[in-house]
Amino acid sequence: MLRSTILAAARNSRIESLVTHAPVSRSVVRRFVGGPDTRSAVAATKALVDAGLHVTLDHLGEDTTDRAHADAVAGAYLDLLGSLEAAHLTRLLKPLTARAEVSIKLSAIGQALPGDGERIALDHARTICTEARRVGATVTLDMEDHTTTDSTLGILRELRGDFPETGAVLQAYLRRTESDCRELAYAGSRVRLCKGAYQEPASVAFQKRADVDRSYVRSMNVLLEGDGYPMFATHDPTLIAIATDRAAAHEVDAFEFQMLYGIRPDEQRRLAAAGHVVRVYVPYGAQWYGYLMRRLAERPANLTFFARALITKG
Ligand code: FDA
Repeated sequence: MLRSTILAAARNSRIESLVTHAPVSRSVVRRFVGGPDTRSAVAATKALVDAGLHVTLDHLGEDTTDRAHADAVAGAYLDLLGSLEAAHLTRLLKPLTARAEVSIKLSAIGQALPGDGERIALDHARTICTEARRVGATVTLDMEDHTTTDSTLGILRELRGDFPETGAVLQAYLRRTESDCRELAYAGSRVRLCKGAYQEPASVAFQKRADVDRSYVRSMNVLLEGDGYPMFATHDPTLIAIATDRAAAHEVDAFEFQMLYGIRPDEQRRLAAAGHVVRVYVPYGAQWYGYLMRRLAERPANLTFFARALITKG
């Protein structure tokens, strides 16, 4: 109930205007968002890298409904990659492990445009992958709602023809994911496993938390038994403990943990200090409102944090 209220607020432009113009918002947002522009995102990345963490950056945007917007988003990624290189934040530390990389939503670069949207997204993704490789970074394709899964995996296959280092994302809440993990658990294949963030129907997705968690563990096992490079994206302490345990049992040390910027930062540092590669997903850009509201919907404790900051400083 609370979750759907917050998600409804995420789509309400009057509430968006109120929140984005509240005097305190900037300091609250700073906890979950790398900054409004490339310069601040690079500064946030530098602070994380200096703390021994790895980073993947996501340019936040509204739905892309025309070609010009798709082109602008692709341009923003090129600008970001150039700035990361200039700040000496790229270069592969070991194969498949760039210090800073980028995460792209294919919908933001044109996938949903009528007609040749998939081709536009693929062309933009190729350009971004080319620049990423030039500067020593990698690209991961975020996964969106289930109606886009086949299209996104198709574009991934095309991209991997030239850029085998391109990362995939699979969502444990989808019934198909264990099987997709089997398909993608081959040598050199970077696969981020997350629970999944969209509201999906029971026909395609597990609905109970326990079933999603069990699917996550089954998929984790498939990835660890395979030859790819698993990236476990979760803040869930139980799943992190299971992944650590299973990776040791399988004698796999080429894998990483991933968490969102501002969420469980102490745990991010603890895992890094224990010798794990930990990558922090840093969203940035002027369109931070929808992202922030989705994070609040995930956890009411964050809502209290947000409200308290508004009341005490507003
Ligand atoms: P869950 O939400 O069950 O939380 C488990 C525990 O983690 C909580 O009990 C709490 O302790 C802690 N926690 C979780 N959220 C918290 C919060 N907001 N604040 C504080 N503590 C919190 N999804 C998707 O559909 N496509 C994608 O491409 C991606 N990409 C992606 C990249 C990365 C790096 C991450 C970490 C996540 C994604 N996701 C995603 C989002 C993912 O699917 C999921 O919605 C969130 O990670 C929350 O799920 P958890 O696994 O953390 O578990």
